Amino acid sequence: MEFSLITTELSEKILTITINRPDKMNALNMQLLGEIDNAFDEVYENDDVGAVIITGSGAKAFAAGADIAEFANFTSAQAKEMSANGHRIFNKIESSPKPVIAAVNGFALGGGFELAACCHMRVASENAKFGTPEVTLGVIPGYGGTQRMIRHIGYGKGIELLMTADMINAEEAHRLGLVNYVTTLEELLPKCKQILQKIISKSPLVIDQVIACANAYTSKTEDGFELEIDEFSRCFSTEDFKEGTDAFLNKRKAEFKGK
Ligand code: COA
Repeated sequence: MEFSLITTELSEKILTITINRPDKMNALNMQLLGEIDNAFDEVYENDDVGAVIITGSGAKAFAAGADIAEFANFTSAQAKEMSANGHRIFNKIESSPKPVIAAVNGFALGGGFELAACCHMRVASENAKFGTPEVTLGVIPGYGGTQRMIRHIGYGKGIELLMTADMINAEEAHRLGLVNYVTTLEELLPKCKQILQKIISKSPLVIDQVIACANAYTSKTEDGFELEIDEFSRCFSTEDFKEGTDAFLNKRKAEFKGK
């Protein structure tokens, strides 16, 4: 697939998607979001992809938001279309059957925060900064930020950050549970790969099921407990479940086939 505002690299089943507009702080314009959308078609369809890392190019920004220059003159109708499109793509990332980590290498603001927030996990370098400065621009987050901010760090602190537009650093984000680890910039991608390799060694079927059930916990339309019952029982008819339990009982390493 040909991209111009992102790059992709597949290595050892991990697809690294790098946002590549460093001169604009990796701001997310429509074309760039479309390329991420297309890259995720590949994630869903290609069995060679087992996991994904999303990161930004350069050492300053993961993504400093939606492209303000692009949307500044949008009508309400255009804004609605923009927001609905962003929601669709970020929900697609969150619902990805394969684990997705945001490797946050600098500013994750506005749409950049929202992109990091829809990933399953976040790992940050020490220079990372998180925030939703939209209210400063007279707008609210439009790519799921109001929901996922509260979901990740709770109502009290979340609504403060949404309303004040304050930024938090990597340490604070770690303390609040928004990021799983803080590393040096050099260690950022290796740390993400280490986590993902652990996950890839499991059955892809159960990882897909864990993601679906965990996401249902926060869904307002789906009962996560009921879904968990269904998905749990579905495991019992797979070869991978038989392989996993047999390997444990026979003290050997499981060889999962995704069947
Ligand atoms: N949309 C469009 N362009 C952006 C952008 C965004 N969200 N964020 C940064 N840029 C552009 C700047 O306009 C500038 O372009 P120029 O060189 O053509 O003038 C370039 O990226 C570098 O940014 P600059 O502001 O000069 O860097 P800085 O180091 O002084 O500040 C930030 C970095 C991230 C604090 C600052 O760029 C910023 O506040 N960005 C907007 C954040 C925001 O409000 N996001 C929410 C959008 S909904």
